[in-house]
Amino acid sequence: MVKLGINIDHIASIRNLRKGFFPDPVEAARIVESAGANGITVHLREDRRHINDDDVKKLKRNIRTKLNLEMSVAPDIVDFAKKIIPDDVCLVPEKRQELTTEGGLDVISNERKIERVVDILRSKNIRVSIFIDPDLRQIETAKKIGADFVELHTGAYANAKSKNAKLQELNKIRLAAESALQLGLGLNAGHGLDYRNVKPIAKINGMHELNIGYSVICRAVFVGLFQAVKEMKKEIKRLEKL
Ligand code: PXP
Repeated sequence: MVKLGINIDHIASIRNLRKGFFPDPVEAARIVESAGANGITVHLREDRRHINDDDVKKLKRNIRTKLNLEMSVAPDIVDFAKKIIPDDVCLVPEKRQELTTEGGLDVISNERKIERVVDILRSKNIRVSIFIDPDLRQIETAKKIGADFVELHTGAYANAKSKNAKLQELNKIRLAAESALQLGLGLNAGHGLDYRNVKPIAKINGMHELNIGYSVICRAVFVGLFQAVKEMKKEIKRLEKL
């Protein structure tokens, strides 16, 4: 069965709106795991806009499944990963101004730099995945520099407006998936996946893991809001009886 990694970055985004302590990413991870997720994914961004160093340390100590750390190849972040030793690292590109990761990592143009980081992480027994667009040359280069996995960027598929455009993007992902498997790479995918578009991606032969964040956290607001209001009403009612 295809594994599900849940990205909990936006639990920390909500916490950071009030610069307080809740919602706590560790508590979120516990709920996510108890609901059957196979792993917890977080992106430690260079600007620490959501998940911070402390969150990653606490998650590493407390989760029962596995920790997948998404990160850039910036030297201080690589040093941090070497100390924490997450189960998996997924190397991603990072731009300060972007709202979310915009494209896959350009492994071809940054081959030497990324290869050095892959070597460092693998020497610490961390499984290394590279987040790339569904492009055959990028996949070949990822293999050449020693990555264990590729995570295929599904953003263009998710954002495609017409049925035709969606199908075209899906076919690119299917082809890319096939060549990744032929090269002996592990196959993951993610970005922009939601309750309506996930199935065709999950059905791709050899798919190992999907990493999904935003749509699940958004859905949680609605499926959890009813209970949250009920609990607050109950607290207030209790006070009335005093
Ligand atoms: N995979 C990677 C490499 C990502 O950078 C992200 C976003 O942080 C995701 C998966 C999850 O994307 P989304 O939040 O759109 O589900």
